[in-house]
Amino acid sequence: IAQLILWAGLGYGLGSVPFGLILARLMGLGNLRQIGSGNIGATNVLRTGNKSAAALTLLLDGGKGAVAVLLARAFATEDAVQLAALAAFLGHCYPVWLGFRGGKGVATFLGLWLALAWPVGLACCATWLAAAALSRISSMGALAAAAASTLWALALGFGTTMLLGIALTLLVFWRHRANIARIRTGTEPRIGASG
Ligand code: G3P
Repeated sequence: IAQLILWAGLGYGLGSVPFGLILARLMGLGNLRQIGSGNIGATNVLRTGNKSAAALTLLLDGGKGAVAVLLARAFATEDAVQLAALAAFLGHCYPVWLGFRGGKGVATFLGLWLALAWPVGLACCATWLAAAALSRISSMGALAAAAASTLWALALGFGTTMLLGIALTLLVFWRHRANIARIRTGTEPRIGASG
């Protein structure tokens, strides 16, 4: 049990590093809280107009999810791996450093799936791309990828990740409450529009 607590803590610590906020500040792009949706993720970094900063945010926020999984896998049991993955996701969404007001977890979600079960991760990335390309809405990509993730896990032979998958899906939807409301009223901004 001490081992599980350790990996939950490590995962949370990694996940809680708000790369988007840090990069935007370091690169002089302003305070993300006052831009677009106010979110700390890559989508909102893109609204500053700086594509490389957005790409880097995506990479680093995804990377921390992947690193949490890979580290746990190298040193601990499969239970610890899944716990580290969940903790990294929660760390991103609810970082203690930001008064628990974190991001929506999409990049971290994709990164942890790529490390946990790469076929599921790739399928989720493809789902995100397809839904985002069709709708031109980033959150639509996220919701589609999250909704499909557990189905992908089952279809691709990763049934042992089912509970984690369901938990992550619910959390992604929960974190996108405001986006879902905007999608319903047709006011969710499209990718590329300054929003
Ligand atoms: O990755 C988060 C994305 O799904 C929505 O972000 O800034 O449009 O709320 P945002």
